[in-house]
Amino acid sequence: MNILLTGGTGYIGSHTAISIIKAGHNPVLYDNLSNSNSKIINKISQITGRELTFIEADVRDTDLLVNTLKKYNIDGVIHFAGLKSVSESILNPIEYYDNNVNGSISLIKAMTKVDVNMLIFSSSATVYGNPLYLPLDESHPTSALNPYGQTKLHTEEMLLDLCRSNSNWRVACLRYFNPVGSHSSGQLGENPKGIPSNLMPYISQVAIKKLPKLKVFGDDYDTPDGTGVRDYIHIIDLAEGHLSALHFLSKKNGWHAFNLGNGKGYSVLEMVKEFENISGKKIPYEIVERRKGDVASSYTSTKKAQKILKWESKRNFEEMCFSAWKSQKFQRVHNFK
Ligand code: NAD
Ligand code: WQD
Repeated sequence: MNILLTGGTGYIGSHTAISIIKAGHNPVLYDNLSNSNSKIINKISQITGRELTFIEADVRDTDLLVNTLKKYNIDGVIHFAGLKSVSESILNPIEYYDNNVNGSISLIKAMTKVDVNMLIFSSSATVYGNPLYLPLDESHPTSALNPYGQTKLHTEEMLLDLCRSNSNWRVACLRYFNPVGSHSSGQLGENPKGIPSNLMPYISQVAIKKLPKLKVFGDDYDTPDGTGVRDYIHIIDLAEGHLSALHFLSKKNGWHAFNLGNGKGYSVLEMVKEFENISGKKIPYEIVERRKGDVASSYTSTKKAQKILKWESKRNFEEMCFSAWKSQKFQRVHNFK
């Protein structure tokens, strides 16, 4: 299959491109590079031994999307492109609605024009708001705690209406839990611009002494050690989840939502400990106030993805931390991105 990856040079898109090539498909990467770097293209080529097609453009450019879908004879689209910082979305909500919701509308319009109707959308566990029960399953009520979450919910709902209006559409909304780690080569990875807001990249930068210490946001949650518990998923497992969703959609129409996580929760202090073990570096930390908007625990039920997508995560917590550390060291040596 020829698969268009919007946001294809980003963290999840670049790893998914590798899995798509490994499975014998042909990815076309489309990205405006607002949060990534074109050097990623060479890295993916080096890892896979394949030349890549890359289009530097914005998903809000509907005409260019139409041309791209036609020119490369695209069978399906994975829509990663979007802005993803919760705190930024609170400061600049309209930028988030424009990029994430208008970007999705532009893509749907373009796909409609050329009759491409298979779409995987990068959604998020954030659509569950404050968990009412755990583990979170796909029937858990949805709600948004911030503008970023709203953009994911709006897009999911738009896609549901689209599928109800036309049974040719086949859409999977993949609700990712907390993706971490990197490809085993260490050449790709999560390297956010500025100071990271997510836990794993923050810890990685403390390990190389780029940041002095980790601030642990609260140790008085109702969790085993009092710190926040999350469902971390290895980025390669997540990438492979997209392939399973593609295979599923090639046989099934309609709108579908799947949680992609590993089904287990790990606390902040467990991650600190595991990272110290695999890196041999001390991670200094201090306990500070809870971060506004954080929940105590979040982890998924893996039943639906296992049963319907025939997918489950295979890589453990140690492999997640190890690969994150490997890519952090690689980036330091090569001053990459
Ligand atoms: P990322 O920022 O690394 O990748 C997103 C890519 O989209 C970037 O390369 C960026 O340049 C590009 N982009 C942004 N706006 C664009 C536009 N208008 N047109 C074209 N390209 C555009 O983020 P990621 O972690 O790879 O996330 C990918 C998707 O998954 C996002 O939609 C994000 O909301 C979602 N998601 C991420 C996480 C996570 O923790 N990483 C969790 C849940 C959901
Ligand atoms: C994990 C745990 C923090 C940083 C966010 C988004 C979510 C999704 C993934 C896109 C929490 C604690 C963190 C730090 C800390 N993105 N922490 N010190 O909050 O689960 O999810 O990213 O969809 O929408 O909200 O992930 O990595 O930020 O935090 O103590 O410096 O680590 O309090 O318990 P989160 P995270």
